[in-house]
Amino acid sequence: MAVNSRNGLFVLLVCLAGVSVSVTAADKPAVKPPEVKVDMETGRQINGVCAACHGDSGQGGKKGEYPRLAGQHVEYLAEQLHKFKDRDRHNIPMFPYTEERELPDEDLIHISAYLAAIKLETQLPVFKDTDDALTRLLAVDKVLNIPRSEGNIEAGEKIYHRECASCHGRTGMGKRNMPMLTGQYTSYLKRQIDKFIKGERLHDEDVKDKSKEILNMLKPEEIRDILAYLSTLDD
Ligand code: HEC
Ligand code: HEC
Repeated sequence: MAVNSRNGLFVLLVCLAGVSVSVTAADKPAVKPPEVKVDMETGRQINGVCAACHGDSGQGGKKGEYPRLAGQHVEYLAEQLHKFKDRDRHNIPMFPYTEERELPDEDLIHISAYLAAIKLETQLPVFKDTDDALTRLLAVDKVLNIPRSEGNIEAGEKIYHRECASCHGRTGMGKRNMPMLTGQYTSYLKRQIDKFIKGERLHDEDVKDKSKEILNMLKPEEIRDILAYLSTLDD
């Protein structure tokens, strides 16, 4: 009781001193994230560096060695870049590009917003005879359709809707910090699932016991079938 009234007095004194406080002294101080105005042009410039691996349009490459980033949710991209920066997520190729000197927090927001806004087509456009080679080349860069992966699509659909859709969405589009899985390379998704199972990446922070984590409870065939189903969603 004595402690509470001292805290109350502290808040009162701070208010009297003309400093506005939104929380009582007993609560956590309110830490405001830096307010950054998104600058797409800066994002585009930073992307010049990322493009070496992830492609000019964030379409990824080498059949999933480099994941697609285009159209992924801005919150998810920013959170993952923070995890690389904080060394909570480990990847040697990404390491030099996420050091503070290379990617300060403000730039991290610009590049995430830039990538999230890129829309990739899933089908090649119909070219006109007058379209030159460069126009065609640029258009091809913005097309990504994930090849069908092997497995039982119907079985995968059932497991996906039972176990994954609540977070990743009924059509695999995700939301906020829950990534879009549709239109992502199968080999990349499989590699991440293996990392989650081994505990090299954390899938669900609320599940402390790894054996109770959904990906650890599925059989390899079930994971194969989910991946087969996901590979159909962008067709
Ligand atoms: C030298 C190659 C290389 C460069 C350059 C590079 N990356 Fe990556 N990036 C990778 C690889 C490889 C992965 C996959 C990591 C894994 O398998 O866990 C990755 C993963 C990512 C992911 C995680 C995607 C997901 O779905 O979780 C993000 C976000 C990302 N990179 C953003 C960037 C940004 C932004 C830049 C430029 C500032 C960049 N990368 C530059 C190689 C690179
Ligand atoms: C409780 C919500 C939730 C459920 C249910 C869930 N996920 Fe996730 N998933 C997440 C979150 C959050 C992340 C991002 C984790 C991080 O921060 O690294 C993620 C990441 C992933 C990734 C990595 C994607 C990338 O771009 O790197 C894959 C693959 C994945 N989940 C597959 C699945 C599958 C398959 C299921 C169903 C068997 C599933 N998830 C169920 C929340 C969930």
